[in-house]
Amino acid sequence: MRLNDSLGRPLRDLRISVTDRCNFRCDYCMPREHFDSKYEFLPKEKIISYEEIIQVIKSALPLGLKKIRITGGEPLIRKDISKLIKMIRDLDDELDIAMTTNGVLLRKNIQLLKQSGLDRVTVSLDSLDQQLFKEITDSNYDVQDVLDGIESAIDSGLKVKINSVIKRNLNENQLIPLIEKSINYDIPIRFIEFMDVGTTNSWNLDSVITGSEMRKIIQQKFGPLVKKNSNYFGEVAKQWTILDKEYDFGFIESISSPFCGSCTRARISSNGHFFTCLFSEKGHDLLSMMRMDADLHDISNAITKIWNNRNDKYSEERKENTKERIPVEMSYIGG
Ligand code: GTP
Ligand code: 5AD
Ligand code: SF4
Ligand code: SF4
Repeated sequence: MRLNDSLGRPLRDLRISVTDRCNFRCDYCMPREHFDSKYEFLPKEKIISYEEIIQVIKSALPLGLKKIRITGGEPLIRKDISKLIKMIRDLDDELDIAMTTNGVLLRKNIQLLKQSGLDRVTVSLDSLDQQLFKEITDSNYDVQDVLDGIESAIDSGLKVKINSVIKRNLNENQLIPLIEKSINYDIPIRFIEFMDVGTTNSWNLDSVITGSEMRKIIQQKFGPLVKKNSNYFGEVAKQWTILDKEYDFGFIESISSPFCGSCTRARISSNGHFFTCLFSEKGHDLLSMMRMDADLHDISNAITKIWNNRNDKYSEERKENTKERIPVEMSYIGG
């Protein structure tokens, strides 16, 4: 059955946040002044279990689900994450299973992840400069740890991409080095506009460097860029090519060029709430339903009802939206 929302968009992707914790404190996502030792992360019993995640996926598969992305927080800090990948893979050979990670624990986990049936990994990396990397991530890790992770993933045969959030007056000078590195690795990079997710990252429009501004900087170094067609319906990143190098890469322009019209993504937060938009203020508590003995049929019906009513298009309405909103944090809902 193909399930459409009220704007005709199918349910294709499920992004699952397996933990609200992270070993980084990126300033645009989990700034340390908010996510400090006093911050109350979810207690273990409130976190959705692997069995419960499988129940949700099983309920959504007949509705048209094609792609699962494991996110966080940092998914590789959740114990035995490869077990979850294997459990998902055992449900369906055809599902596209991807993970978004900061990469520092990737090398250690890569063999198990690959063996468990993971198809793809996307690694977040915003700077190749060690000092700037430290400043952005506010962590004890080195850029080299991330690069080791990326290289181990490439060597393992997984499909690998790099995600870079670019903020004005912070890391625009990393655009060129990051592309050069990605060309060198022969993997795609996607540059992401700084988004107004959550309430703690002090977002303001002045800090957003748009995709079009980024392209101007890139063209100065690499010559003309040409826009390409999307690889598939609903692709988040707009694809571009560096003509002279025949290198394809992308821009995720949620601020300057929203893509809600083809948004096929649902999200499960680390406490098992189902969200129909990255910018939602509230989710639907599937975890409580499951813990009150709802079966697959009940969950499937609940998702159908929620999706049928879905009319979110926050990024497109952002400019008109003057109401004070309290969207949930990215680390909890998943990127
Ligand atoms: P692919 O399957 O490789 O195309 O991945 P993806 O681009 O769908 O996902 P990824 O996790 O790499 O996301 C890249 C960036 O896009 C992250 O910053 C996400 O937060 C952002 N993003 C993903 N989906 C959405 C969305 O539905 N809305 C908005 N506004 N941003 C999104
Ligand atoms: N704006 C844009 N991207 C963000 N990410 C986290 N917070 C933000 C934000 N405020 C990115 C991460 C990761 C992806 C899942 O989301 O860098 O690549
Ligand atoms: Fe952690 Fe990713 Fe958020 Fe950085 S962006 S704090 S790595 S979840
Ligand atoms: Fe989808 Fe909401 Fe992002 Fe629009 S803002 S693309 S509806 S998640």
